[in-house]
Amino acid sequence: MKINKNYLNLQDSYLFSTIAKKVAQYQEANPDKKPIRLGIGDVTLPLAPAVVAAMQAAVAQMSCKATFRGYGPEQGYDFLREAIAGYYASHGVAVDAGDVFVSDGAKSDLGNILGLFDVDNTVLIPDPVYPVYVDTNVMAGRKILYMDANAENCFLPLPEDNVKADIIYLCSPNNPTGAVYNHEQLGAWVDYALKNNAVILFDAAYEAFVQDQTLPRSIYEIDGAKQCAIEFCSFSKTAGFTGTRCGYTIVPSELIFEDVQLRKFWLRRQTTKFNGVPYIVQCGAQAVFSEAGQRQIKANIAVYQENAKIIADALKEMNVWFTGGENSPYIWLKCPSGMTSWEFFDKLLNECSVVGTPGSGFGENGEGFFRLTAFGDKAATEIAMKRLKSLFK
Ligand code: MLT
Repeated sequence: MKINKNYLNLQDSYLFSTIAKKVAQYQEANPDKKPIRLGIGDVTLPLAPAVVAAMQAAVAQMSCKATFRGYGPEQGYDFLREAIAGYYASHGVAVDAGDVFVSDGAKSDLGNILGLFDVDNTVLIPDPVYPVYVDTNVMAGRKILYMDANAENCFLPLPEDNVKADIIYLCSPNNPTGAVYNHEQLGAWVDYALKNNAVILFDAAYEAFVQDQTLPRSIYEIDGAKQCAIEFCSFSKTAGFTGTRCGYTIVPSELIFEDVQLRKFWLRRQTTKFNGVPYIVQCGAQAVFSEAGQRQIKANIAVYQENAKIIADALKEMNVWFTGGENSPYIWLKCPSGMTSWEFFDKLLNECSVVGTPGSGFGENGEGFFRLTAFGDKAATEIAMKRLKSLFK
């Protein structure tokens, strides 16, 4: 038996597990302190009442022989797939419900989708980036090319003709930088992919945070994207499902490589390796798209947007360089001069009892930067900013 030695090329632990470990150690050493967590992008507001009511009704159905349900369709119930397609339609994007695959979240799908592609493909990944894109490809032993995202290109790298890649990862609004591609920039990526016979894996997990109506929320707003892109999305940040688990992936029927519809491969993969998301959870997810559900989740998102503003205003007052926060729940800031990301992480934790995420955890270009999330509690975010201000004084 031979093990997959590619795992030896990974860092010892996943970024957010390392942070959780450090925070646990800090808490053990300082039992009287309660750290304010602005690190991992985990939501703090409860599920919307419309979602809870739909889940409770589903529980009641499951408790009765006549309405009980066992295995559901692996790709999700039609009622949810149609609701998702309806959501896209409400933004002027035509998505076929048959191309929608419901899953337990974008993270799993972003990793699992790689099984559809030969290991010999070259992958193009922005740096800094959500570590899952890199780690899943390292596990598979795939060749990775990095593209620089930096202050000069506003953390929005564009395609370069001399760089040849087969699989491209894009995340917009971006995790970790909060940067958002406009139509023209996404159009350049779609053109590149079509010209180079490449596939774009588009992570749209933060689309609901886009406030500027001129910015795209889906790659399918770009002509030709259905021939070259798979879109991943999630209820986690949009509707507080980080613990409930539900997401969806769009594999358009138009996406054909080597005469094969990728949708068929993905269906085959999911029916073989996945048994679907619980009925109760899918009923809750469907309620996100009801009139009441939309109103309620938007009110929650508005709270997070207000948090982002609290953080942004504080940073402005302190003259700290930052980006993001307007169309995204992440604020990406420069560490005090001469300090590495991890040094700033330790300082913030030890002196302010505030947890953030070191930029270098997202890639080499993240060194010297730091990410704060707007998903915290409002009062705690305000306290965190007060403490930050006293630190920077
Ligand atoms: C993050 O903090 O980057 C996200 O919460 C991670 C995730 O969605 O898996």
